[in-house]
Amino acid sequence: MSEIVISCGGRPIIYATYRTIVDRGEKVIYATPSWNNNHYTHFLEGEHVVLETKVENDFMPTAAELKPLLKGATLLALCSPQNPTGTTFAKKQLEEICDMVLEENKSRSADEKPLYVLFDQMYWVLTFGDTQHYNPVSLRPAMKDYTIFIDGMSKAFAGTGVRVGWALGPKHVMSKMKSILSHVGAGAPWPSRKLPPNTWFRKRMLINTLLTSKAKWKNAS
Ligand SMILES: Cc1ncc(COP(=O)(O)O)c(C=O)c1O
Repeated sequence: MSEIVISCGGRPIIYATYRTIVDRGEKVIYATPSWNNNHYTHFLEGEHVVLETKVENDFMPTAAELKPLLKGATLLALCSPQNPTGTTFAKKQLEEICDMVLEENKSRSADEKPLYVLFDQMYWVLTFGDTQHYNPVSLRPAMKDYTIFIDGMSKAFAGTGVRVGWALGPKHVMSKMKSILSHVGAGAPWPSRKLPPNTWFRKRMLINTLLTSKAKWKNAS
């Protein structure tokens, strides 16, 4: 439990991650287009390090593009599947980024902050067809020390109004996030916490059925 934070949706969790990790003037690396990293960096008065992604990389950042930007950065914000593009990291693409982050952190001295990765996987259950979702820690277990997962019910279970989101990450980061969130009234609403999980799994099955029948209809026409 000390590596989990539950709050009222993804937004407070993202805000708390930024607030915990980024001090004023510190570098935040994020891709464009991406969802709202510009606003969170602005709130924190961080330095925006913006990487313009390319169509040939499915609008996802690559290790080669990120590498020259890493010096002094404290947060790398990644999102897969990505909003607004709907594209995902290929396995190799994400493996290369993880290796690069691990190498960067190995090169930092004990009094330097490590480079953390905010990994927003809000849409991960909504991949379709042959597309597979990958995450940094499954690919490279050593990434556990540096990855903050952002997840929730809003997209996966078509429950934006339910307002339940969660983060997984290193204990010392989660503990600070909890302290911040307890002062911004961002606990998940009691009725949402009590909803029977069944309701949501049934909804997920409905979404799958809808997508599958849509695909069948498309193939037939
Ligand atoms: C990529 C991404 N992460 C997080 C969120 C925030 O989700 P929530 O509605 O749970 O605050 C959104 C909402 O659109 C999103 O697109």
